[in-house]
Amino acid sequence: MPLQYLLASKKMRTGSIRPRRRGTGGKYERPLDDLRQKITTASLRERKLQHNPITCLTAYDYATARVVDEAGIDMVLVGDSLAQAMLGYENTLTVTMDEMLHHVKAVRRGVKSALLVADMPYGSYQIDPQSAVNNAARFVKEGGAEVVKIEGGEKRADLIRRIIDAEIPVAGHIGLTPQSVNVMGGYKVQGKNLAGIEQLMRDAVALDRAGVACMYLEGIPREVAAMITAEVSVPTIGIGAGPDCDGQVLVFHDILNLTFGPPAKFVRRYGDAAALITHAVQAFRADVRSHNYPSDEESYHLSKETKAGLDIVLERKRAMSR
Ligand code: KIV
Repeated sequence: MPLQYLLASKKMRTGSIRPRRRGTGGKYERPLDDLRQKITTASLRERKLQHNPITCLTAYDYATARVVDEAGIDMVLVGDSLAQAMLGYENTLTVTMDEMLHHVKAVRRGVKSALLVADMPYGSYQIDPQSAVNNAARFVKEGGAEVVKIEGGEKRADLIRRIIDAEIPVAGHIGLTPQSVNVMGGYKVQGKNLAGIEQLMRDAVALDRAGVACMYLEGIPREVAAMITAEVSVPTIGIGAGPDCDGQVLVFHDILNLTFGPPAKFVRRYGDAAALITHAVQAFRADVRSHNYPSDEESYHLSKETKAGLDIVLERKRAMSR
């Protein structure tokens, strides 16, 4: 073993060797067994027929995707809401295809049983149909998505047919569609008057006829969501659309108080991750500052033989410097 490093004076040393900490591999209970059936677009339809509510949550990274999938959620949506929730953008309009793909790939690695839906970001399908099909194919080919989601109703029907022709299942999304925030003049509940209800019904039927796998209904009155759900053959997944939809979706960060603002009316908080994380981070900080972390038990140790050898070398060094 070269001893130059040990025998060298402190000044001569160029750096230090630190063992790299690996992921903690923290233990947690897997809530469901591995025998869970894979959710498919076909099983979603079954669930509608059986009046068996469908669950969907957003996930934007590997760890969250694993937890959500293993907790038994049916559909995982990599929503473009990651623009705000993960990237701190003001709205969903700025997030790009490449940013979305980066997250879809991470989520893919964490999801086993749930159906993986990827949101097509603003600008990736509105401009021309061929690039829309290409972008949808990227989500499937590069990201491993099983369904792509597109905002808009009647006016998207032809495009949706083209994407389905390319063997890519599509989820529709109507009502309060965040990518139209500038056209709507804000995030406003849709379908509140007769003309609005008429348009929503036309949109829903157009998506159904175009062959969507399911449709998300966002920010519409309960009564209208119930009418749509009864009218269309595919499952409706509601967010701010009342309890009569075939399923419900919420944003993961919303249900865990990780969104740093007042929640929308329909958000139910199931936990306070912000408080939990703050508590853990403050405890770590306090332990380090008070020399309580790491303890001897949390440190690696030399074997007795190596320690004895090291003591001899250090003693020789001390003798040399006397
Ligand atoms: O981006 C998203 O999270 C969504 C859901 C709210 C449906 O589109």
